Amino acid sequence: MAPMSRTSEAPPLAGRTIALCLTGGIAAYKSVLLARLLLQAGATVQPVMTASASRFVGKVTLSGLCARPVLDDMWDPKFGGEAHVSLADEADLVVIAPTTADMLARLAQGRADDLVAALALVARGPIVVAPAMHPRMWAHPSTQRNVATLRADGRLRLVGPVVGPVANGDVGLGRMCEPEEIFAAIVETLTLETQGAPRRDLAGRHVVVTAGPTVEDLDPVRFLGNRSTGKMGFAVAEAAAARGARVSLVAGPVALSTPRDVARIDVRSALEMQRALDDVLGPALEGADALVMAAAVADYRPAAFQAEKAKKPREGQAGDALTIELVQNPDLLAAIGARRAQAQRARPVLVGFAVETRDLVAYARKKLHDKRVDLVVGNLAAHGFGGDDDEVVIVGADGAEPLRASKRAIADAILDRIASRLA
Ligand code: CTP
Repeated sequence: MAPMSRTSEAPPLAGRTIALCLTGGIAAYKSVLLARLLLQAGATVQPVMTASASRFVGKVTLSGLCARPVLDDMWDPKFGGEAHVSLADEADLVVIAPTTADMLARLAQGRADDLVAALALVARGPIVVAPAMHPRMWAHPSTQRNVATLRADGRLRLVGPVVGPVANGDVGLGRMCEPEEIFAAIVETLTLETQGAPRRDLAGRHVVVTAGPTVEDLDPVRFLGNRSTGKMGFAVAEAAAARGARVSLVAGPVALSTPRDVARIDVRSALEMQRALDDVLGPALEGADALVMAAAVADYRPAAFQAEKAKKPREGQAGDALTIELVQNPDLLAAIGARRAQAQRARPVLVGFAVETRDLVAYARKKLHDKRVDLVVGNLAAHGFGGDDDEVVIVGADGAEPLRASKRAIADAILDRIASRLA
């Protein structure tokens, strides 16, 4: 007898989280059906409501259906005032259905005066909106101006409205699309996004990256610096954000623009970088899931900073040689590695870099051990400064892996290892 075949294809939204936002309109009842369609397609559905939405459908209906409490309060103490950010980190897609004329106006202005509007501003993934209102409201020049602004911004996908009867029996353009049509737009949007979109395996993680040189001032016009351009660290920050992480980038002076969705903190000297790291990592290093120290931190700084520009000696006077006294900077990464070891924590995952002129793997291994970190990315000084490609060796306790690729691909290889340690 031939074995029975069974379709084992995953439902179209398996593993996806959709934030389903309702604003105040009669069409809100149709969003209950939309919730069902999303759930049947395998999605996790997080219901979100504005205050006026709950005048049209009961919270219990949605929370019961979605098996999650409805979120409707920006100030929910569970999220410490950051409900919109937590939600944005979790949601693969935000859908606002129905979207009132008032919500369209607030979206067009970029306002954040309730949880739905704030979520739309901070969302990472696509946003689908399904307008629903009386045809005269839709046709009003103000609404049309708002819709034109939103279309030009290109951040949202508008689905509908369509012509049909609206709440009071009037017929015209303003009726919300049927749930099946909104559902189809959601599936299509996510499918398009997935083709060519990076993994989001760092969603919900906080990755801290340092990049660039530190410069150590001698006087108001002179400094000691190094040749780091910051490209490697910026590539790591950009790749981590694309993979869903919240990213803090502590950058020395570089000529690079801030990658999308990255919070940048500019610093100058090693001591400033140390203070910035103390702030983001917190006293018990609880503030981050991973730290990638791509910065070329100066090992020494001038013993004294001269407030006035130093003058060279007059001609004929003694002193054609100049000695500058330097003092050692703290080793930021080694100190963090030691604190983590003392606290017996596995996090943050720590990644250091090593630029060497010889014996790359041996020196990288030594740094791995001495600084008590998880990975050291070594490269030879002959490669790497300023280019877009690089040749590195990623050294961990379990071995050394050579890699010749673009800085972005190297960044992803480093993040693969971080993600698997965090999993
Ligand atoms: N690092 C640091 N603080 C310093 C110096 C370096 O955190 N004061 C970090 C860098 O960000 C990098 C790694 O440590 O991740 C580099 O190691 P390091 O021992 O400083 O390399 P070198 O300066 O090249 O050291 P050495 O001269 O001993 O080879």
